[in-house]
Amino acid sequence: MIDYRLRRNTRGLRQKGFCLIALALTLALLGCRSMSSHNDKSEPQIPVATDLSLIPVPYSLHRSAGYFTLGKNAALGIHSNDAAAENIAHYFSELVQRTRGVHLDLLAPTSKDNNTQSGIDFVLDPRLSLKDDDSDEGYALTVATGRITLVARSAHGLFNGAVTLWQLFTLDADANLPLRIPCLRIEDHPRFAWRGLMLDPARHMQSPEFVKQFIDWMALHKFNVLHWHLTDDQGWRIEIKKYPKLTEVGAWRRPAGAAGTDANGQPVRYGGYYTQEQIRDIVAYAQQRYVTIVPEIEMPGHAQAAISAYPELGVTGKNPGVSHDWGVHTVLYNVDDSTFVFLQNVLAEVMDLFPSKYIHIGGDEAAKDQWQASARVQARMRELDIKDETALQSWFTRRMQTFLSAHGRKLIGWDEILDGGLPPQATVMSWRGSKGAIEAAKQGHDVVLSPDPDLYFDHLSGDLPDEPAGRPKVISLRDVYEFNPIPKDLDATQARHVLGAQANLWSEYFPTDASVARATYPRAAALAEVLWSPVTAHDWNGFLDRLVVQQARYRELGIGYAQSAFAVHIETTFDAPHGKVGVKLANQTDFGTIRYTLDGNAPTPQSPRYTGPFETAASGEIRATAFAHDAPLADARARKLDPLALLHRSSGELRQCHPNSGVILRLPDDTPVGPDQAIFHVDLFDPCWLWPDASLDDIDHIAVNVGSIPFNFQLWKDIKSVVTRKPLKYPAGELQVHLDRCDGDLLAAVALAPALANAGTTQLEVPIGHHAGTHSLCLRFATGKYDPLWAIDWVQLVPAH
Ligand code: ACM
Repeated sequence: MIDYRLRRNTRGLRQKGFCLIALALTLALLGCRSMSSHNDKSEPQIPVATDLSLIPVPYSLHRSAGYFTLGKNAALGIHSNDAAAENIAHYFSELVQRTRGVHLDLLAPTSKDNNTQSGIDFVLDPRLSLKDDDSDEGYALTVATGRITLVARSAHGLFNGAVTLWQLFTLDADANLPLRIPCLRIEDHPRFAWRGLMLDPARHMQSPEFVKQFIDWMALHKFNVLHWHLTDDQGWRIEIKKYPKLTEVGAWRRPAGAAGTDANGQPVRYGGYYTQEQIRDIVAYAQQRYVTIVPEIEMPGHAQAAISAYPELGVTGKNPGVSHDWGVHTVLYNVDDSTFVFLQNVLAEVMDLFPSKYIHIGGDEAAKDQWQASARVQARMRELDIKDETALQSWFTRRMQTFLSAHGRKLIGWDEILDGGLPPQATVMSWRGSKGAIEAAKQGHDVVLSPDPDLYFDHLSGDLPDEPAGRPKVISLRDVYEFNPIPKDLDATQARHVLGAQANLWSEYFPTDASVARATYPRAAALAEVLWSPVTAHDWNGFLDRLVVQQARYRELGIGYAQSAFAVHIETTFDAPHGKVGVKLANQTDFGTIRYTLDGNAPTPQSPRYTGPFETAASGEIRATAFAHDAPLADARARKLDPLALLHRSSGELRQCHPNSGVILRLPDDTPVGPDQAIFHVDLFDPCWLWPDASLDDIDHIAVNVGSIPFNFQLWKDIKSVVTRKPLKYPAGELQVHLDRCDGDLLAAVALAPALANAGTTQLEVPIGHHAGTHSLCLRFATGKYDPLWAIDWVQLVPAH
């Protein structure tokens, strides 16, 4: 089956005078409460871990009585002459200043005040021993009444501990100083070595500034791998000095549909690339945050952009053009020695830019049609005694493995690289579910799990009507929290091959940096806990509770996270004859107390509490949100309750005619990205919508808002499943409305004038005659072709009175 992601698819510390200033500003450490304060009823009795809102939750945490109190000016001492430790201290103090408004003076390692005056100590100590820790990422953090001590064996451990300490500093972002941190001891280390996220700049490119921000946010969740998908059919995004056309030509495409032409009728050029200078800067930035960037250069498929730049690298010699389509393309590299020279030269520059041990060579979805059809490729196979095209890809991968290994690097690729045999040193990234991981680990390969759909964050995080474009099989916060990176079929020895997991941010439906951020958080917080914290510490309810504070951190950091887990879904049932509406409220996680208003005001913690479905007059508006600890968990969602509004359905609120067999996507109209852009919920194979049980008694006609978008999908063999319908009345195409069933009576057909195509959305008035009682309405398009793809934006039943 094809992947329809369419896819289904500062300043130096040793500056002169620094210590003097630091001395003058050093925190006067406040006294500590004695153990007896534990029984002081005025102290909140806070359960261990959850109240501290640490994500990911640490391996072990023990609270003790009392608090460390941080005053206006505090100091941070570094007990190491290690430059990395100094950098971490700088990073930490800058973060605390930025997000908590607290200034920390940094004391140099050589400062005589370092032991006596400072409130916080960062210590690198190779003798630190932590239970069960075989990583180099562990740390121990002790908060005592007069001093906070963070100890780690490695700089990476120190960094992780600093992130935990930052979280302790941001338990209540709104609190005024002094800031109190409960006395405790944390010993912590990761469950998995590979804790990743993947960014895809090929479909829509993210700005270099955003990539850095993304890395920052990763580090604050203790993620340590950024897999960077730098090349694909839709764009080549990395400057390669030896082959300038890769970016002069391969980095640019013309958007599909109306978006491909500007206001002056000129073709639009869309794309971009990262210069080597920008990449070096991003890599250095990531290193300072202990995130390794694993670059991916796709081969032998997903190579259309490269082959458009240098057609001689392809099988046909023809220039296919940089693609504006999503899906599986059939353009492959050829297997001439000169193509390997090209790929090796590219990888040489890539290795020069990225110090990562792993280099990703893609390997997925290499549809073999061109290799099969090419006499030259077939001759080469005979010459090499290679039996089929799968074995040819295996031979291709082995050549790259030999090259990478000669340069001290390790090959990693998508699970297709297993087909036809793979050298044992290669690591497999399992995306077609977990079966690739199981097979690979059984064969003795290291594996990284990033299965579709479980960790494909292009799947929507909820099913609220205001969800953005994406793949509508919801991957909820809870789905991610419950993801098990160790497939059940592996025994203990095989399971040791699981390096970890990552979530993939395929960007077909993320045209903006903000849309990437929204798809990532808070689901990435759930994944961070799965991958860092021991299974015994996983606790869904505790996680949700901790997320309340984590969301406040996101707001402070400027992360535009998704509200899908907590926002209230307002379900209405219209009782037209009695002018009443039944209202049901719920949120995805069933977390928090839902409160609502019917007077147009914003809900507050004092608003009526929702206790179960109720009935109210069909007028005005309902607004609802869920609260926890008196804080709203999401923006209030509103719904008009007047009769006309209750007779309105967006395409996502209609039912799909083939919910289980099609390829259902939420696709944006090809108008500029923005709040007014229509999002169509549509089945690519057979666009068809049902309004079940519509009460038609008093309905005069229906209004249907429709749009057409380019069918920019490469479906490979699945193109056979796409249904086209012949128009019955209007040869240029029509919208058909059927009664009761899709093969029931044709109620109406309305012409789709060609001029309507690509002009945003258009409202059609559909006379349906008079039909007493309740009926289902089936709506679909008949144009005799599938491109452009016509889709419904919304349907309105219009009453006679
Ligand atoms: C993939 O989603 N084709 C790795």
